[in-house]
Amino acid sequence: MKHAASMIVDKDFIISTIDNRLYGSFIEHLGRAVYGGIYEPGHPQADENGFRQDVMKMIQTLQVPIIRYPGGNFVSGYDWKDGVGPKQLRPRRLELAWRTIEPNQFGMNEFVDWSRQAGTDVMWAINLGTQGVEDARQIVEYANHPSGSYWSDLRVSHGYKQPHAIKTWCLGNEMDGPWQIGQKTAVEYGRIAYESAKVMKLVDPTIELVACGSSSREMPTYPEWEATVLDHTYEQVEFLSLHSYYGNPENDTATFLGRSLQMEDFIKSVTATCDYIKAKKRSKKTMMLSFDEWNVWFHSNDADKKLEPWQIAPPQLEDLYTMEDALVVGCLLIALLKHSDRVRMACLAQLVNVIAPIMTENGGQAWAQTIFYPYMHASVHGRGKALVPLVQSPKYDAKGITDIPYLESIAVFNEEANEVTVFAVNRDLANPLPLEVDLRSFGQCRVIEHIVLENPDLKAANDAANPNRVAPHAGGNAAADGSKVTATLSKASWNVIRLSLN
Ligand code: AHR
Repeated sequence: MKHAASMIVDKDFIISTIDNRLYGSFIEHLGRAVYGGIYEPGHPQADENGFRQDVMKMIQTLQVPIIRYPGGNFVSGYDWKDGVGPKQLRPRRLELAWRTIEPNQFGMNEFVDWSRQAGTDVMWAINLGTQGVEDARQIVEYANHPSGSYWSDLRVSHGYKQPHAIKTWCLGNEMDGPWQIGQKTAVEYGRIAYESAKVMKLVDPTIELVACGSSSREMPTYPEWEATVLDHTYEQVEFLSLHSYYGNPENDTATFLGRSLQMEDFIKSVTATCDYIKAKKRSKKTMMLSFDEWNVWFHSNDADKKLEPWQIAPPQLEDLYTMEDALVVGCLLIALLKHSDRVRMACLAQLVNVIAPIMTENGGQAWAQTIFYPYMHASVHGRGKALVPLVQSPKYDAKGITDIPYLESIAVFNEEANEVTVFAVNRDLANPLPLEVDLRSFGQCRVIEHIVLENPDLKAANDAANPNRVAPHAGGNAAADGSKVTATLSKASWNVIRLSLN
């Protein structure tokens, strides 16, 4: 077979109109995500609220539509009341999930203010580890009820006359995990999630809720957990969560690049489980998925084992991402887009310093990691309709994963802008890959730009001394001839081919 790939896209073959929340992210009270990340009073770039404006600008550049907060494992021991009201009265607590000290100088109201500035919505996770139904109703009343009741008036007394109008809420975090504070069986969790959902929607019927799926596909209780939890909660929630992290500890890049196929399998099997419960319940409702933790995570594992406990905002989970990690993130983004009919929300975990596209120095600069770029390109140029990718590509086998196509690709049609954007990864580590895209129903196309992220060293990373070592350039060679677009994708590269239809 010739070493070349092709793709046909047609404007009538639509996977789905992409929910913008597919490009969400996540900020947890963990490591330097909040303190030293988005919030650092006294930093030369901080505003009067202590919000770092250098970090703010980078987040605005990413156009992050929604951010999950405040955890993560953190939330299962968190009392949100510790983080509201006068800062000098807020308690310092032992934080047991990550074994640090939580000073509570940043909480719900600060996060809502910060999110407004960042132009993003809030996805709030409630604590179903150490707390339960009563707390679930109180927090929604505090956040969303206009006034005239105890908890809403408390918010008003804290200086927030207008309700926060938080629309999206997670019912706990990874409640199946033995590491989780207040871990539960599927039945225990299903019951508390159902009862919490009930009171939350009695307070505010406009909210949308995410029930916890398994904390990974490797959990022994997966997918029975999903089936049992949905058996209890199906009619009360809109989403079921998926979490998955990928790594390359064995330095087997060919396999690592194939991990997005496993992400797709995971999505398909969770979808099937949701639809089984739909059938069982004779329900008219279709459960949507929230892939609200996904990323590469493995570089920092050893360093984290050596950390002294009970520090405030120590450097935790600070993965320094390489070129090959950016390729994997690109493939994972394409996998999410391929399933955007069911995966309506997703959160790159996380956003700043903690397994994040943005890194900072305390008191110093902020810079973009390699994975910043595919995430930015997808978020900025991947809005509109995801088109079915009919791909022909040579394939390879790797350890435990077979038939991995060298080409991973999808096209997104933005009707408003009259543009089609092709996202493509060449997984071939040794050879360029000629690509032909047939956009038959679109008529004449013009290449606006062909952005490429590549580096001869797959282990190259950006750091404080060299923040731009790995950065995209617009030097790709895509060319259009009528509705045919051809390009040569460099070996091991992430490509964004933007086409105008005018
Ligand atoms: O994102 C880091 C951690 O990974 C989260 O706190 C937890 O939910 C997951 O296990």
